[in-house]
Amino acid sequence: MKANRVLMLLVVLSAVIPSVIAACGDVSEEVTEDPISIDGQVFLEERCTDCHGLGRVTGAEKTRDQWADTVTRMVNIGARLNDEEQTALIDYLAQTYGP
Ligand code: HEC
Repeated sequence: MKANRVLMLLVVLSAVIPSVIAACGDVSEEVTEDPISIDGQVFLEERCTDCHGLGRVTGAEKTRDQWADTVTRMVNIGARLNDEEQTALIDYLAQTYGP
């Protein structure tokens, strides 16, 4: 009986420890990277690929104003982004795909 308990504990610990370590890893990543860029990149990959591939975006070089115009146009035709998300995305696009 007692040996079984110890075994159970080991099984539970070995399941929990890797996820604790993984969670710590996520935290340090967030601290070292610019959160605006992370959000912008996520929005780009998740919300801008419904209708066309990423190539439309990654092949372009635009100023912040031009990206703002493009994102507004995409939102008008159906891209799912609220105002805050649009700003984060436009910042990311201007930083990453500038002229
Ligand atoms: C509802 C469908 C749809 C979604 C969602 C969408 N697009 Fe588009 N996109 C289009 C269509 C259609 C065109 C081609 C016609 C045009 O340029 O207006 C296009 C063209 C483009 C172009 C090339 C034209 C230009 O202005 O340089 C870029 C860049 C672009 N999209 C970026 C984006 C970004 C960034 C997002 C995410 C915010 C996005 N798209 C989401 C439909 C979409």
